[in-house]
Amino acid sequence: MSALALVLVLLCSATIMAAPAAADVESHSFPVFNATTTESLWVATNMSVVTPAALLFRPEQLFPEVNVSEGFLLLPKMVDVWRAGAGGLPTREASFNTSFTVESAAPPVSFVLLLDRFPTLNNPLGLRGANGSAAGAAPNATDGLAAVEVGTVRSYAPESPSVGLNVTVTPNGTAAPGRRAVWVEYNAIEHVVRVYVAAGGEPRPARALLDARLSLAGQGTTQTALVGFFAARVRDIFVGVRDWDLAVDRLDTDGKKKGTPWWVILIAVIGSVAAAAAIVSLVVCSFVSRRRARDVDPKQ
Ligand SMILES: *[C@@H]1O[C@H](CO)[C@@H](O)[C@H](O)[C@H]1NC(C)=O
Ligand SMILES: *[C@@H]1O[C@H](CO)[C@@H](O)[C@H](O)[C@H]1NC(C)=O
Ligand SMILES: *[C@@H]1O[C@H](CO)[C@@H](O)[C@H](O)[C@H]1NC(C)=O
Ligand SMILES: *[C@@H]1O[C@H](CO)[C@@H](O)[C@H](O)[C@H]1NC(C)=O
Ligand SMILES: *[C@@H]1O[C@H](CO)[C@@H](O)[C@H](O)[C@H]1NC(C)=O
Ligand SMILES: *[C@@H]1O[C@H](CO)[C@@H](O)[C@H](O)[C@H]1NC(C)=O
Ligand SMILES: *[C@@H]1O[C@H](CO)[C@@H](O)[C@H](O)[C@H]1NC(C)=O
Ligand SMILES: *[C@@H]1O[C@H](CO)[C@@H](O)[C@H](O)[C@H]1NC(C)=O
Repeated sequence: MSALALVLVLLCSATIMAAPAAADVESHSFPVFNATTTESLWVATNMSVVTPAALLFRPEQLFPEVNVSEGFLLLPKMVDVWRAGAGGLPTREASFNTSFTVESAAPPVSFVLLLDRFPTLNNPLGLRGANGSAAGAAPNATDGLAAVEVGTVRSYAPESPSVGLNVTVTPNGTAAPGRRAVWVEYNAIEHVVRVYVAAGGEPRPARALLDARLSLAGQGTTQTALVGFFAARVRDIFVGVRDWDLAVDRLDTDGKKKGTPWWVILIAVIGSVAAAAAIVSLVVCSFVSRRRARDVDPKQ
């Protein structure tokens, strides 16, 4: 049974991971997260990895527990973070810009950059790590519209208690109604991350709400990473986040295939499963394909 699931994941991943044409900047854009736009995305919770995320929008209400669990909504493809030169030291680092809007009444959502593998499934610490596992004070700032904090991801604790990047936005629901527009810009040359917040529909303000020194290369990061959002309930991401745009410098511009190949992701998933010796669900897109095949069957 698990061998079958494995093969199905292989087949599905092969289609999902087809890389777009090379350019200097890799871009992703989502007007909203719905049944159509999440067709290529992944959901990862403390107990499962589900792809396509669109399964959660199916009328049959498959896996309602995944929707209310804490978890991530992630791009299917790793993005560049840095590249090692001689001696394994980082020589090149990618800048990135991302923007999204959140509803003013939304619970906190975090833009996250993880490692090049999923967090361990069934980790007794969950995805938010142990209490007090965050090392020191995180840069944070508040204005009338929202509070922002630039910290790390604690989902790989206890082995790696604090990795990647975690930009958490908590809209102030009692201030102005409407949406909050958020921009997160990482400049790899200046080694600065800037977070801007404006009322929905307004242009990006000239002044950043938060401006923090940050060096991602080699500091609790892998060379490529899973990127997306985290929330205390996966559905908070579906409901709260709109107009997500991401642009990341592409470090391999010589036409070489970049990113972590799909089979490494697969091994990461299976590896975590083996390590945890338990898995609740590994959902594969064959499920959907089979159903589609049935839907178009002329003999039905
Ligand atoms: C999802 O959103 C896109 C873009 O707004 C829209 O074109 C599409 O019809 C929506 N799909 C569903 C199933 O609501
Ligand atoms: C998951 O949440 C979305 C957004 O609220 C909702 O449209 C969908 O029906 C939910 N799915 C399940 C399986 O509960
Ligand atoms: C995983 O999350 C679910 C729902 O959020 C929770 O009930 C369960 O206890 C969690 N499991 C672990 C191992 O943290
Ligand atoms: C990010 O935006 C700045 C302008 O604010 C631009 O100079 C830079 O090229 C952008 N970087 C990426 C990776 O899109
Ligand atoms: C974490 O800390 C909070 C407040 O200090 C406490 O209420 C909660 O029980 C703690 N959780 C764990 C798992 O220790
Ligand atoms: C927010 O920043 C202040 C310093 O500006 C710091 O004292 C505080 O601990 C930070 N809060 C968190 C949650 O890290
Ligand atoms: C991201 O940071 C926020 C604010 O500190 C925290 O509540 C959340 O648990 C963190 N998420 C992860 C996945 O580490
Ligand atoms: C939210 O906004 C209201 C009105 O501007 C303000 O009084 C309140 O202090 C803000 N809350 C936080 C947590 O910043």
